[in-house]
Amino acid sequence: MILTDEQRRMLVGDFGRSIKKSMEILAALGKIYDADRLVPVSSVQIAGVSYDNLGEAGLGWLAEMAAGGGRARVYATLNPAGMDIDNWQAIGIPPEFAGQQQRVIAAFAQMGVVTTCTCTPYLAGNVPHFGEHIAWAESSAVCFANSVLGARSNREGGPSALASALTGFTPEYGLHLANNRQTGVVFDLDCKIEGSASFGALGKVIGEQIEKMPGKPIPYLRGIERASLEELKSFCASVATYGGLGLFHIEGITPEAGLVALPDLHLHIDQQAIESAWDSMDDEGGEEVDFVSLGCPHLSLPELAHLADLLAGKKVKKTFWITTARPTKQMADRMGYTRIIEESGAVIAADTCCVVAPIRGRFKVMATDSAKACYYAYAKNKFKTRFFEFDQVVAEALR
Ligand code: F3S
Repeated sequence: MILTDEQRRMLVGDFGRSIKKSMEILAALGKIYDADRLVPVSSVQIAGVSYDNLGEAGLGWLAEMAAGGGRARVYATLNPAGMDIDNWQAIGIPPEFAGQQQRVIAAFAQMGVVTTCTCTPYLAGNVPHFGEHIAWAESSAVCFANSVLGARSNREGGPSALASALTGFTPEYGLHLANNRQTGVVFDLDCKIEGSASFGALGKVIGEQIEKMPGKPIPYLRGIERASLEELKSFCASVATYGGLGLFHIEGITPEAGLVALPDLHLHIDQQAIESAWDSMDDEGGEEVDFVSLGCPHLSLPELAHLADLLAGKKVKKTFWITTARPTKQMADRMGYTRIIEESGAVIAADTCCVVAPIRGRFKVMATDSAKACYYAYAKNKFKTRFFEFDQVVAEALR
């Protein structure tokens, strides 16, 4: 990989220990993936923030990078943490965990990383534009940035995303290259897709099919007339979870759909495929729901407004977490949505989510509208799941 003079000086340590370490990570990645060069990035999103996932080893590494003089060169934000940073007591987080999580956040802040902890950075001010190179880590956000915004990112790991934040560069391979953004399979849809859960079920169907195909081609979808931002964020989370996909195109909706040549391979998706994906996430085994969760990915302000409408004057009967980005919650505070939601007994947990918070063993059956949350609720916490559309999830909390 060819390095510029500045990048070579970073690599030999002229800019300090953390930059040296960062450049070593990026150079190694570039070598593995046969990149010709590093390209400048305009935006970074870093995963590996929850102390539940990082543990002492991860915290130690971050503290070392902060002590080594690393300072973000580009706008960088964080993925969800293991708790609401300001209000962790309200969701039952033990004080010892809270203390370690605060140290993680402090290390990032010391490096100049903006401590907005969200998987929807594009709803909280970290919004790259079409064609920009970025280095994001959260799989659903990477998929959204590539597919819906037309920015260019591989799915970074926590260390490589931090390395890009501290140096301002990423190796040019994978989805940074136009040739790798072409589609390899067209999905013709013959089914009704409407609502965040329905788009999540579609993401599961497509993701699982792609997962089985050699070379994991980028899908091109036909037959979706409209999709809201919220439906697209749900689809991105699902297709990234079940298919490991970082990019898709939807005819008439996503910005690169008109720029790619269509392949000969066409597959059909019908209503039955959607229903069977739905059923696979909806465990009707008879056990009562004891945990209700909305906000995977983090809720948008319109979703919080709708939720406030549904909960106004009512009381929830189950533990109900609503997860969102801190800036989104601050707007909800100002609009009065937070007060209405909290008066119902539901809890708005900013900065965190039902997957990265340490809740193993606390619940048995979770109701959600998120296909991604269904996957991790079982894989990480061994919860059973009920899978409903947004309004039905709220009805379940009130039941
Ligand atoms: Fe976001 Fe957590 Fe879901 S990071 S996409 S809310 S698993």
